[in-house]
Amino acid sequence: MHLIDNDKILNVAVEAALAASNIIMEASGRSKIAIHKGFTDLVTETDLHSEKIIKDIIRSFYKDHTILAEETGKDSSSSYYLWIIDPLDGTTNFVHGYPSYAVSIGLYYKNVPQVGVVLEMPKLKLYTAIKDQGVWCEGEKIKASNTKNIHKSLLVTGFGYNHDENWDTNMKLFRHFTDITQGVRRSGSAAIDLCHVASGLADGFWEFDLKPWDTAAGILIAKEAGCMVKNLNGESYSIYDNNILVANKNIYNQMLAEITPYLN
Ligand code: IPD
Ligand code: CA
Ligand code: CA
Repeated sequence: MHLIDNDKILNVAVEAALAASNIIMEASGRSKIAIHKGFTDLVTETDLHSEKIIKDIIRSFYKDHTILAEETGKDSSSSYYLWIIDPLDGTTNFVHGYPSYAVSIGLYYKNVPQVGVVLEMPKLKLYTAIKDQGVWCEGEKIKASNTKNIHKSLLVTGFGYNHDENWDTNMKLFRHFTDITQGVRRSGSAAIDLCHVASGLADGFWEFDLKPWDTAAGILIAKEAGCMVKNLNGESYSIYDNNILVANKNIYNQMLAEITPYLN
């Protein structure tokens, strides 16, 4: 039988995330030159540098694993092992010196998330999850909040760069949830949003137009913390889906019920 050594994989992912964070933290005090990938979608030299070191470290341990990374895409190999990397989630925050950005690394085996690592910066809070083994942040096991009523909840969300046909729907949802909850926050890093729901700082998260690297690690972290992880239609979530809904088990159905009328 083929055994996946998730402990070793986690160690490699953590080593790569820490190496990337050294590069990002070192660059954070300097002025940054950002190139536009889209009207508001930025990339810096640091994104590229971070991605390179993460890939180099993974490759030094696992030559034949496939890697999908935001800035360089998917390589041509087709292993059952797929590493999914966001070398700098929250680039806009990073460019402006706003303190909320992260490195996100997930490892999937046959499309099932096995290991997730998110390193929140500049606080340097490390979130690590292994499938069926729970999730830790800085040596402590974390779990989702126990908020029972949506009216008592604090939510997080994000606004993607594509202001397409989902934009109006999302603005309406943002307004509605701001009306019926205790507040909606926007960190500018989906990976951090997912970790904040996982650790109970927030109770729920929804977003449109995310990419696989934004959520690959964070959804395992959220699942292992006891969250429901679905798409906005209430179906099981794939990292290739266009939208996501993550919440503690008490308010998940309440959020879904509020969202459904806006999608029809
Ligand atoms: C972005 C962040 C943001 C989300 C955007 C993402 P990037 O990632 O996660 O919170 O709203 O949709 O693209 O571009 O900073 O890696
Ligand atoms: Ca991202
Ligand atoms: Ca990124």
